[in-house]
Amino acid sequence: MSKPRHIAILTGAGISAESGLGTFRDVGGIWSRYDWRDLATPEGFARDPAFVLDFYNWRRETVRASEPNEAHRALALLQGEWHGPVTLVTQNVDDLHERAGSPDVIHMHGTHLTALCAACNQRWPAPEVMRPADPCPACDAPRTRPDVVWFGETPYHLDRIGAALASCDLFVSIGTSGTVYPAAGFASTARAAGARTLELNLEPSGNAGLFDEAHHGKASRIVPDWVARLLAER
Ligand code: OAD
Repeated sequence: MSKPRHIAILTGAGISAESGLGTFRDVGGIWSRYDWRDLATPEGFARDPAFVLDFYNWRRETVRASEPNEAHRALALLQGEWHGPVTLVTQNVDDLHERAGSPDVIHMHGTHLTALCAACNQRWPAPEVMRPADPCPACDAPRTRPDVVWFGETPYHLDRIGAALASCDLFVSIGTSGTVYPAAGFASTARAAGARTLELNLEPSGNAGLFDEAHHGKASRIVPDWVARLLAER
């Protein structure tokens, strides 16, 4: 098999689990303790903005107190050392890839680092605490919300991601359950375009049948092992 040149990587909550950030669907995960309809939909925000903002204030604080782990660092190393493009797409709204040194990260579900005005779409650096009455710095509307993509909304940067899936030789899915679309469909899109597919996850995901190869275990071990092998084989 020929060596890959363009590598496209999708990460999910599992890569940040060992940094102390909870996953969503594992036992004890965030969506087993909270109803996503209340916290991750525009309708939930309209019903109770204070409750939603409190949740994301707590999540943002948890992210600020966390550190990247060996898996984030290994992907940053790969992006720095690989001879071809490495497109890194994440569903995570934390900034642990950036803090590990990744120079270019596509945040398809948004980021905790910015606030978004629900009235005019202005973005600005997220304050430590967001409150429903906070005015937008551009239009003054009191419609501040987290800059995260909720269920029913369109993920960000789909054009750029689609171009990477069409041209990559290797697609790697890391720490994601493969249940939320469109991300859950990326492996089959890349495969249909001719890429080899690899899953690195704690256990076989819901999409396990879409991968040519899989390694199971904790991300902090299996991701650095894979990167080391890849860089050694160049
Ligand atoms: P999930 O919680 O659905 O899946 C996390 C995956 O990580 C599972 O398959 C776990 O087996 C795996 N995992 C857990 N710990 C791990 C570890 N230490 N090392 C490797 N793998 C581990 O999270 P996502 O797939 O990221 O969207 O969820 C996708 C989207 O659903 C999120 O972006 C979020 C959520 O609702 C929105 O909020 C819009």
